[in-house]
Amino acid sequence: MSDLILQGSVVAQANVNIALIKYWGKAPERGVWEQNLPAVPSLSLTLDGLQTETRVRFAPEAADDRVVLDGVTLEGGALERCRPILERVRELADLAAPFHVESTNRVPTAAGLASSASGAAALAAASSRCAGLTLSLEELSALARLGSGSACRSVFPAWSAWEGAHARPIAGPEHWDVALVVAVIDAGPKSVGSRDAMNRTARTSPLYAGWVGSARADFEAGLRAVEARDLHALSIAMERSTLRMHASAMGADPPILYWKPASLSVVEVVRELSTRGVPCGWTMDAGPNVKVLCEGSSADEVREALAGIEGVTEVIVCGPGPGLQVAVEREAS
Ligand code: DP6
Repeated sequence: MSDLILQGSVVAQANVNIALIKYWGKAPERGVWEQNLPAVPSLSLTLDGLQTETRVRFAPEAADDRVVLDGVTLEGGALERCRPILERVRELADLAAPFHVESTNRVPTAAGLASSASGAAALAAASSRCAGLTLSLEELSALARLGSGSACRSVFPAWSAWEGAHARPIAGPEHWDVALVVAVIDAGPKSVGSRDAMNRTARTSPLYAGWVGSARADFEAGLRAVEARDLHALSIAMERSTLRMHASAMGADPPILYWKPASLSVVEVVRELSTRGVPCGWTMDAGPNVKVLCEGSSADEVREALAGIEGVTEVIVCGPGPGLQVAVEREAS
């Protein structure tokens, strides 16, 4: 029997994930609910401590969905990005009522980390449960993908892989004691958002075909390295994936360049640390901040080395984090 939450709400928490092997570019849409299918496979680490909490209830009295993020009611493009998830839930549950959504990002604003992935994953979990759907984690992952591709990986704890309609779990937080050390260089909004940037790259960059053609080898090397807890091999694969993704973006027209001088300084320090026998590897997303993966036991040393770099405004250390958490909050009737 369906357990529709008409009185009360559902609250879900999802954590930010960072891709070590990148998603950059979409496969052609084959039909309805086929958006954000990836052109390349990706591999990620879900982080602890950086989280979105989303509370959803039905609003039968309202004319439309209302989504409030950190106290601000979303409009325009920001609201439309949530819409595919809410529409899909209504379709699956055969309901018409609008949703009232309140979401809080527990990601320090100074972290400069995008919370769209944790936001879409939490929205998928809370809205589907509120509508009485009991979806598997794979189904929740596919639902989260409708809001933002990378969100499908935030459903799972720690290590997950994504190719096709949904992500899959690879290993939990206990598998490997690693730290992801974030060197914040610019905490402001991205110069070009990842969706526009990857679409422009696919449309205009002569280097895009090379990126897509080489991505699977890096993904498979990354998977093997995670399984073997081989930080050296994982560093090689993640840096190669990152550099090739950024090279394809730089080849777009107009070009997309996320690097700042301090980004390169961090890369140099990572190389020095590795040469000194502190194994670590770096990655960068659609912005200048650099994320450095190292063994948990080296986190302090890496943090100190990054904090001393000119242009690095903040350093944040994260470990492997949990997957989705969902709770129903019923009101007494
Ligand atoms: C560079 O998931 O934000 O962070 O699917 O269009 O919402 P949409 O894009 P999004 O892109 C993330 C790009 C990336 C790499 C990654 O997370 O794999």
